[in-house]
Amino acid sequence: MDPVLQLESVESGYGEVQVLWGISFEVERGSFTTILGTNGAGKTTTLRTIMGSLRAWKGRVLLHGEDITRLSPHAKADRGLVLVPEGRQLFPDMSVRENLEMGGYSKRARKRQKQNMERVYDMFPRLQERHQQKSSTLSGGEQQMLAMGRGLMQEAEVLMIDELSLGLAPVAAQQLFLTLSSLRKEGLTVVLVEQNVHLALAISDYTYVFAEGRISIRGDSDDVARMDEVRRAYLGL
Ligand SMILES: Nc1ncnc2c1ncn2[C@@H]1O[C@H](COP(=O)(O)OP(=O)(O)O)[C@@H](O)[C@H]1O
Ligand SMILES: [Mg+2]
Repeated sequence: MDPVLQLESVESGYGEVQVLWGISFEVERGSFTTILGTNGAGKTTTLRTIMGSLRAWKGRVLLHGEDITRLSPHAKADRGLVLVPEGRQLFPDMSVRENLEMGGYSKRARKRQKQNMERVYDMFPRLQERHQQKSSTLSGGEQQMLAMGRGLMQEAEVLMIDELSLGLAPVAAQQLFLTLSSLRKEGLTVVLVEQNVHLALAISDYTYVFAEGRISIRGDSDDVARMDEVRRAYLGL
């Protein structure tokens, strides 16, 4: 095990309300990890706490073994930790190209902005065809491509995506999963929060299931997919 990202007993919440009650997990370098859980289980809160837009009350976040808990989101992004947030948060009035450029200004990626943009366009020809179009006029699937592309412009080493397939047509979701899968083969580490449990369990290596701010199940995705509890609660079997 060569963990790139580790959480050690992370607790956090909003105001006085505690949401996470000691989250510990490891993400192996180059792996594809899925986080499942019902609404309100604390998945988004976990990603925000990892990224640092929400402060960890207790515990540590490690990147390559280095304690990054208290670094700013900006400093974390400069180390290759990138979050595609729920709802994508694109700049609606900017073009596809301009949105991609916004991802490419970091200190980490500035020098290679041109190559990175070519790489994104190779991966998503649809974005190249629409490079002058305002992002608000793209389809849901195209917007998610753009949000992922922006993350890749930041030269993500660990790409965390919150609700990749939410609101997308099944075909669009499947295509994005396959793209992620191929990126993983190029060395990207993927952490995905997902409601499409079938697809997520089929494609990912490792799965964590969250319940009420804690991890209730962890294991290889193949094994998790066979658990009675998971089959009943998530797969409708
Ligand atoms: N900005 C916020 N302020 C207060 N409570 C929040 C906020 N965001 C989420 N919560 C609460 O934290 C809990 C976990 O939410 P969240 O992490 O978004 O769950 P998930 O992503 O698993 O659906 C929920 O009870 C939710 O109501
Ligand atoms: Mg969420």
